[in-house]
Amino acid sequence: MKKSLSIKNENISASVTLAITAKAKKMKEDGMNIVSFGAGEPDFKTPKYIREAAIDAIENKSIGYTAASGLLELKEAICEKFKADNHLDYKSENIVVSSGAKQSLFNALATICNPGDEVIVPMPYWVSYPELVKLADAKPVFVETLEEDGFKYTKENLLKAITENTKAIILNSPNNPTGAVYEEKELREIAKIAQDHDIYVISDEIYEKLIYEGEHSSIASFGEKIKDLTIIINGVSKCYAMTGWRIGYTAANKEITKIMTNLQSHATSNPNTIAQYAALAALKGDQAPLYEMVKAFDERRKYMVEKINSIDNLSCKTPKGAFYVMMNISKLMGKTLNGVKIEGSMDFADYLLDHAKVAVVPGIGFGSEEYVRLSYATSLENIKEGLERIESSVVL
Ligand SMILES: Cc1ncc(COP(=O)(O)O)c(C=O)c1O
Repeated sequence: MKKSLSIKNENISASVTLAITAKAKKMKEDGMNIVSFGAGEPDFKTPKYIREAAIDAIENKSIGYTAASGLLELKEAICEKFKADNHLDYKSENIVVSSGAKQSLFNALATICNPGDEVIVPMPYWVSYPELVKLADAKPVFVETLEEDGFKYTKENLLKAITENTKAIILNSPNNPTGAVYEEKELREIAKIAQDHDIYVISDEIYEKLIYEGEHSSIASFGEKIKDLTIIINGVSKCYAMTGWRIGYTAANKEITKIMTNLQSHATSNPNTIAQYAALAALKGDQAPLYEMVKAFDERRKYMVEKINSIDNLSCKTPKGAFYVMMNISKLMGKTLNGVKIEGSMDFADYLLDHAKVAVVPGIGFGSEEYVRLSYATSLENIKEGLERIESSVVL
């Protein structure tokens, strides 16, 4: 008889976007000229001084195990970053360095959740949030954030979602996939709700430095009470073009940090030591390459938004951060394009790939059927070519 497998983990879904990405890859391999708007990572090389720090670590440092929660020197640099950028006082005992922000999210949810707990997830959501909540034995409760509200939580819809089982709210600003950036007064409102109901806030700030309009505020900076309830998630992946290096971190109260450290010490031990030295250099070194990257993203963002809004039946709001645009395709629903009936975001993404050789991410992957996500982490030349192709394929 076949032994049964973990029911919990069997229920973790494969990414629904995987199929379309795999199809685009296969078409590229077959020699087709595909323009891809699928990227979830900067198209820039990791800055030279960071690469050099990694080489220096290999040649000149002890690169054995570090403390499971990370190098003390790196934790201190992270505390300095919190002080300088976010007006937050943390000590090294509040920090856990992990193998990417994703592992930090896993640690955070696994530390605070019990079976039966509910975690509020903004929808459209970053694909991993619901699955990470389920892995922690809790239940994701989706709160739809509407385009007309700038894809942000409102006080009313948050309050409606809260029950006696609500353990945490996931907050992601700047947001993937919408590019939404919360203003300070909106964050203060969320902080008040969290405090009034004694709910944790998991504040995913991984796109913190990729902001083109407005400023980033960290919800934890509004007072000791909300700081105690918040687990900040951050890392070097997106801002320093270091996705493959796998370094993320959390800041939280000591009790939570201790459990996350124990958990990580048995699950993975310390994150890669060489990458930790590289992350240390990233935080302490010259920030000019980061500003150059932001400038390039901003130029592409402006072009993309203007072009999309000039195309009949397509539209988008201007994202203020990260590197994604949510393109509204609701006017195409039910229509037939070149013989293909469009009934959902997957149909449209498939149609664009087959007909225009353009890859986009269907909104269904984020829980939103009337959108597709376009990443502008690709050259302006590709963006121009891809949008021309989209324009000629949506003409009715
Ligand atoms: C909102 C959000 N949080 C976390 C992550 C994970 O980041 P990392 O690569 O550091 O694990 C991503 C990556 O796509 C993301 O978009």
